Amino acid sequence: MIALFDSGIGGLTVLHSLWRRLAQRDYLYLSDQAHFPYGDRPAQDVRRDVAAFAAFARREGAEALVLACNTASAIALETAQQAFSGPTYGVIAEVASVAASRSAGGVVGVLATTNTCRTHAYRDAVHARVAEVACPELIALAEAGGASDLDVAREAQAPLAALREAGADVVILGCTHLPHFERVLRELTRPWASLLDPGEALAERLARELPERREQRSVRCVTTGDPQTFARRLLQELPQVAEHARIEAVLPSALHA
Ligand code: DGL
Repeated sequence: MIALFDSGIGGLTVLHSLWRRLAQRDYLYLSDQAHFPYGDRPAQDVRRDVAAFAAFARREGAEALVLACNTASAIALETAQQAFSGPTYGVIAEVASVAASRSAGGVVGVLATTNTCRTHAYRDAVHARVAEVACPELIALAEAGGASDLDVAREAQAPLAALREAGADVVILGCTHLPHFERVLRELTRPWASLLDPGEALAERLARELPERREQRSVRCVTTGDPQTFARRLLQELPQVAEHARIEAVLPSALHA
């Protein structure tokens, strides 16, 4: 069983990548909806809650832990590694190495939360010049769901203009929610940059590193938020996964057992 952690439902984009690449696996999706968003949360709170989820994943018998959340990967990867004490992956490292090889001598652009940009985790991980631009409004649009292409284009305009201005020829979608807007963002960046989805890069790595196993393809979702809201979004976004899923609520305090 592979455990995935996200601050909310955005990590479903990463689950989707893993589900396609490692199809015969069981998954434990951990969602801290009660404390969403992580994008501008104090770092010590993020570390405390990520540690609790990582320890929970260990108690539940997960063989590997994936921090699907870019913000948690930027702030709390080491904390998660210690609490899980097993193979622990953040979404940033893998896509960073792909980005450096994809850029034709230009700048690697990153769209991410305020917290991810503040830590400069992408700048430290990518061996090339990097421009990080926070786009909280665009991320909020994805979280709310139901945005039109026009809404996306309007909110993406300023952050993309900043990346283009900086000379970006590759743009990393450095937030779990942004792959939802990939089609529109690809249209807008086509003349000057290619897009990279961290979930896809990570799924490639896990497919290489984790042993092949035939499991049940079950998906157990554990959320600190409202399980019905979670179930609705799962059904909207990943109907093919929803039919394998069981959703449970957990009190944040219960995780700290
Ligand atoms: N999951 C977060 C990330 O990838 C985005 C949402 C949030 O702010 O918590 O950075």
